[in-house]
Amino acid sequence: MRNPLPPVPGKLLELEVSDDLRRGTPLATLIAAPSEEDGDAGLAEIGGVRPTGKTGDVQTVPTGGVRWLAGVGDGEPKQYRKAGAALVRAVSSALEEDVKAGQKAFRAFAVELPEDAGAEHIEELTFGLLLGGYRFTVTAEDPKPGLRTVRLITRHEHAAVAVERVRELAAAAAFARDLANTPSNIKTPAWLADTAARVSGGIPNLTVTVRDEKWLAEQGFGGVLAVGGGSAAPPRLIELEYRPRGATTHLLLVGKGITFDTGGLSIKPADGMHLMRTDMAGGAAIIAAVRAIAALRLPVKVTGLVPAAENHVSGSSYRPGDIVRHYGGKTTEVGNTDAEGRMVLADALVYGIKKHKPDAVIDAATLTGAMKVSLGVRTGGVFATDDALAERVTKAGERVGEAWWRMPLLEDLAETVQGSLGDVRQAPGGPGGIVAALFLREFVGDVPWAHLDIAGPARADKTYADVVPGATGFAARTLVELVASYS
Ligand code: BES
Ligand code: ZN
Ligand code: ZN
Repeated sequence: MRNPLPPVPGKLLELEVSDDLRRGTPLATLIAAPSEEDGDAGLAEIGGVRPTGKTGDVQTVPTGGVRWLAGVGDGEPKQYRKAGAALVRAVSSALEEDVKAGQKAFRAFAVELPEDAGAEHIEELTFGLLLGGYRFTVTAEDPKPGLRTVRLITRHEHAAVAVERVRELAAAAAFARDLANTPSNIKTPAWLADTAARVSGGIPNLTVTVRDEKWLAEQGFGGVLAVGGGSAAPPRLIELEYRPRGATTHLLLVGKGITFDTGGLSIKPADGMHLMRTDMAGGAAIIAAVRAIAALRLPVKVTGLVPAAENHVSGSSYRPGDIVRHYGGKTTEVGNTDAEGRMVLADALVYGIKKHKPDAVIDAATLTGAMKVSLGVRTGGVFATDDALAERVTKAGERVGEAWWRMPLLEDLAETVQGSLGDVRQAPGGPGGIVAALFLREFVGDVPWAHLDIAGPARADKTYADVVPGATGFAARTLVELVASYS
């Protein structure tokens, strides 16, 4: 029987850049909203349709050369991402309609860019086109004929270069979405590790090492083993090493890889528990980012570490009140087994810093529900021991369209994570996102460190910009861009 799961990573649309129209390919054109000079009547009609020019509006033209008009509002680059995403969705449904009506499916379409569109506009449009039509479905049905190619019609001299970079960034986001969307009955820690190894194969200077539970026990990864101990699917540690020749800076990226979070014995309520299949979204962002960094051949040494475990309920689950010994020896008093992310990250941070002596460390994790309350679901929280690093993360995010907000590591609260029975206290109460970050800080020492809490933006329940409901791939693009900023 055919496995109904889609291939991971899935295929992105092919992109072509060209300065001429090819006859027969359905064509879309981008239209800015009417300005004052256009007067009350607005924009001139095209094929009997009066364009609105509103961002996100896609109008169908029944006759003539152009089939779709996609509004770009005030024409700012940001609007191009929304327009690209709305357009690709509209074109895909038009294709479906064509097929339903018994017509031959077109597999390519072209988008004509305005003369004055710059590199940034092209990049934004490309993000929208590549990611806006993202879908992940598990079905017994045969795959429907879909879009294969989009051609950008532009004379911009840097278009091809800009598009190539964006394609790699979009591929990272889409791959991170695929990993996080994969259901947890498939996505065991071993599956995640095997998939990371498989997709990294053949990329120059990139190697992936997978450690099993036996190795983790020998090395003393008490946090990973405690969390993973309740599951029939044993934990793994995924280590991705990208070693370009001549690079001097070395960055360590660590991602939470909880393949499902039941909460453990401190079990979560049934409502919403299914969403915890994306609790490895931080790890997914890191696997996808390291792959893209290597594919782009960025001249920076990067190590990715993903402690992968399933937080489950059984006779071998860890318990509230347990004292766990992490890699390196520090002990944690467990207060709540649902605070499992910090348990696995603590081991990986100590191990990665000791082994690799990186110049800076960045971790990404769907760590706390509190973060979702603080910043909502479209902005990630950045905690950092280093102002310059925090600034780099935020700026990298701006360049790729991911929003970050700096959060404080409040010194007043530092003592709440100090233990009495053990060295540190895992879940002492207080402002959840901050306390979790302070807990992690106990394991990083002096190296510049940034902690990205993406519990909010890692998933979406609405369609917006280039995001569709489900996993968003948030942080993957920021991480690639962050690493690029060191080159
Ligand atoms: N995976 C959750 C955090 C989460 C919540 C992510 C909602 C995405 C959406 C994490 O493991 C967790 O359960 N954290 C607890 C910690 C608490 C027990 C100290 C939380 O935030 O409630
Ligand atoms: Zn949890
Ligand atoms: Zn969790």
